[in-house]
Amino acid sequence: MILYFTGIGNSLYAAKQLDNELISIPQAVRQGRLDFSADTIGIVTPVYGHEVPPMVREFMHKASFHTRYFYMILTYGNRHAGAAELAKRLCDECGISVNYINVLLMADNWLPAFDMNEQKRLNKKVDEHIELIRDDIVIRLNRIAPVTYADRAAHREYLSRIEQMPPDIFQHFIKVTDACIGCGVCEKVCPSDSIRVVDGKAQHIPGNWQTCLACVHACPRKALGLAIPEVNPNARYRNEHISLTEIIQANGRGAE
Ligand SMILES: Cc1cc2nc3c(=O)[nH]c(=O)nc-3n(C[C@H](O)[C@H](O)[C@H](O)COP(=O)(O)O)c2cc1C
Repeated sequence: MILYFTGIGNSLYAAKQLDNELISIPQAVRQGRLDFSADTIGIVTPVYGHEVPPMVREFMHKASFHTRYFYMILTYGNRHAGAAELAKRLCDECGISVNYINVLLMADNWLPAFDMNEQKRLNKKVDEHIELIRDDIVIRLNRIAPVTYADRAAHREYLSRIEQMPPDIFQHFIKVTDACIGCGVCEKVCPSDSIRVVDGKAQHIPGNWQTCLACVHACPRKALGLAIPEVNPNARYRNEHISLTEIIQANGRGAE
């Protein structure tokens, strides 16, 4: 069994390669489903600022997992900065006995730093890495991916930058332009009900936003963007093996 969170399909793609029984964390949260039993249980999720999204963190705190082998796969795009160690700490906080944590390099969807057209061209050897992870899981390897001093320093440096910003800065990142025709795709792909069409136009509702950028990447008119500069505002991304329908089923209200 794999529980997953995804914004643009990377983590869903990885999850699909590792198990047949997939449960979306946003849908489990909506259903109040918190008790899980299976021979192996994995969590596949992106990292944001090297840590799992707030919804995944809260879910892990509340849920109970009954299994003989618990693992986490953390997808990232450029620099994991010790994400495995941070996830191990989270498991400890939640009382989860974790057997295996690994990181998986995929396309980076963080628009202020990356051009999605370039990310599409890069060969990050995703399938090869998934294959290695699958082999580890099959033999039930006990291993937390190693973390270096440089990784920890990178995370500390990131935290000190974040500390200087207003605490809710990320909640005010989404910009809706006049190109919006109120089609509602953004609403359907949002895992946290943080965007609604009101009077024919998308409106961002701050507070519980997960910063996954699902809405921005999925908007068919590129009418959603960030309030800070993007490397290429015309380039958007969805994992090439994942359909829009799958993202909607994973995240959308009423799709569970
Ligand atoms: C808000 C935000 C923060 C991110 N932070 C990091 C990061 O710290 N390091 C990194 O390598 N990638 C980072 N990324 C990239 C994602 O982790 C990566 O693209 C991931 O595979 C997306 O998975 P998904 O398609 O399942 O949403 C970030 C992306 C977003 C949207």
